[in-house]
Amino acid sequence: MSTKFSQVKRVTTHQLQAMKEAGEKISMLTAYDYSMARLIDAAGIDVILVGDSASNVMAGNETTLPITLDQMIYHATSVVKAVQRALIVIDIPFGSYQGSSQEALRSAIRIMKESGAHSVKMEGGKEILESVDRVLSAGVPVMGHLGLTPQAIYKFGTYAVRAREKEEAEKLIDDAIALEKSGCFALVLEKVPSDLTRQVVEELSIPVIGIGAGPHADGQVLVMHDMLGINKEFNPRFLRRYADLQEIITDAVRQYITDVKSKDFPNLDESY
Ligand code: KIV
Repeated sequence: MSTKFSQVKRVTTHQLQAMKEAGEKISMLTAYDYSMARLIDAAGIDVILVGDSASNVMAGNETTLPITLDQMIYHATSVVKAVQRALIVIDIPFGSYQGSSQEALRSAIRIMKESGAHSVKMEGGKEILESVDRVLSAGVPVMGHLGLTPQAIYKFGTYAVRAREKEEAEKLIDDAIALEKSGCFALVLEKVPSDLTRQVVEELSIPVIGIGAGPHADGQVLVMHDMLGINKEFNPRFLRRYADLQEIITDAVRQYITDVKSKDFPNLDESY
């Protein structure tokens, strides 16, 4: 066992369960690189998601669909190196588990072996249950993801709130129960009415982590770049901004440009 981080007690899936049972809310954020993961881990975040939202915020794609398994493993490996305490969850990207349960298992094993992460997340309900079972059978913890599942955005056609209608809400509850029964350790619910989240939380004993899913979830997740105000063009109602890094970074870069152009930087104290 490595002694490098042996002083720090890691958050485990069992601890998340205990937090739910104790009524302590779970905090979760995305991270995709070493430096940011190090900061949010040191700040005390419980769970770090290496989300396939890296496709949007890191690679500039319109959707999460283009990111590859190799690219996810690259991001995951950088995050794992930085993190001492948080539980790390890695999204299995689009096209790496929908083909068959064998494909899902192969992808999950590559993520775990090559990055050193602690668990994976998969989008979907009963239609991916065989794959979820297969991955779990290899001892890989799985987090489910229901509601707005961005890998299926071309099926939905819009990023609007999901499961407002009775039929879709009932299907979501059934899917959530099936994922818990198969052994998922937690479930992300994205962009659904808060009353539906309350019902799912009441039905399930595993933690439910919400994003745009209201206050009844057992925890909350946000994309770090959104909550830090790095990209202010994305403005959904559910997003609370905790910083305006766009302004801070822009001001700092403008000041640097001014100092270089005016020959103020570097001065003699900043030279050898
Ligand atoms: O990829 C991601 O960032 C996610 C969160 C929005 C839950 O799946």
